[in-house]
Amino acid sequence: MSQPLDVLGGITAEQFLAEYWQKKPLLVRNALPEIENILVPDDVMELALDENITARLIKQKDKDPNQWSVKSSPLIKADFQKMPKLWTLLVQAVDHYSFDLAELWKKFPFIPQWRRDDIMVSYAQKGGSVGKHFDFYDVFLVQGYGHRRWQLGQMCDAETEFVEGQPLKLLPDMDVNFDEVLAPGDLLYVPPGLSHYGVAEDDCLTFSFGFRMPNVAEMMDRVSDKFAADQLLKNPLKDILRDKISPIGQITQNELEYLKTELLAQLQNPAVLEDALMSLMSEPKYPENIPEAEAIGTGDLEEALDQGYSLMLEPASRLLYTEAEGELLFWANGEGICISEAFSPILKQLADGGSVLLDENLYDPDMLEDIVNLLNESILMLLPAAEEE
Ligand code: SIN
Ligand code: CO
Repeated sequence: MSQPLDVLGGITAEQFLAEYWQKKPLLVRNALPEIENILVPDDVMELALDENITARLIKQKDKDPNQWSVKSSPLIKADFQKMPKLWTLLVQAVDHYSFDLAELWKKFPFIPQWRRDDIMVSYAQKGGSVGKHFDFYDVFLVQGYGHRRWQLGQMCDAETEFVEGQPLKLLPDMDVNFDEVLAPGDLLYVPPGLSHYGVAEDDCLTFSFGFRMPNVAEMMDRVSDKFAADQLLKNPLKDILRDKISPIGQITQNELEYLKTELLAQLQNPAVLEDALMSLMSEPKYPENIPEAEAIGTGDLEEALDQGYSLMLEPASRLLYTEAEGELLFWANGEGICISEAFSPILKQLADGGSVLLDENLYDPDMLEDIVNLLNESILMLLPAAEEE
């Protein structure tokens, strides 16, 4: 992947990862011209009123724009009445609703899928913003419609103080060292911690291709769930050798050491840790966005063979795999999945973002059953091949 990439303004992925990723911002003009007009402001308004969508309507008071309010979804029409002059509508996971948008993740093949969060869109009219702030995540801000002025400032961290008494984590000040107006197709990479402030210049849609990392607390939580579900571990431990009598109110250091050692010995079990982490990382963030599949059987699939359909990943689902010593293991939507060995390399291709033509090469009863199961669970989807691209 060492050729220069348009999406990175002509530098290679390796250069970007070494010099910018997690470190400093990058502005690329006309990085993603395909994004223009995938959605227009009315589409975003319509999506925001969908009962399944996660959205926020942020308003600034006309009398004092330093007073903010946030209304979280479900949003209804009445929320958009008597609007102040300055407001922003944020809609999460629009990539689960627009296939064309979901396809644009492919412009960032140098960051693995498990690091992806979602694509959020913001809609604002002139002057609208979400205030001066920073995020703990990497984000590619891509202008989709209209114009937004972006200012960047100092690096912040968990110690940074926010404006008091507001429903958003706003920064009191920013030492502005970057000030540019982005037009449709322009991209601004903002690393975690960098303060930023984007103000709409006109009717404006900005797409945030957001990335994520798990935190240790949630990893611990999932690990503990996995161990807690193990029946064998529910058996009481044996007692230690009682060769000394100690005061009855005390747990001795020796006893504590024994309990800790038993616990830590279990935590060395790599299969359980990997299962816990893979389950966590494959959990869908918006499970309600996963469409209910129309139940099919292997017979239906046989009929669809050679009819010009392709298999691909359902955008709202998550499918990840590990590969160790030639063995592929898969997790989807928070659980480990079992599939036939023959289907493994094909599912790997799908997890890597590829599409696979449904033709006689897949004609194997086990494979057809795997495919049917994954389609019925909405982990995979079928697309008429002509609709690809
Ligand atoms: C916006 O698009 O207005 C907000 C995106 C962000 O600041 O992360
Ligand atoms: Co931000």
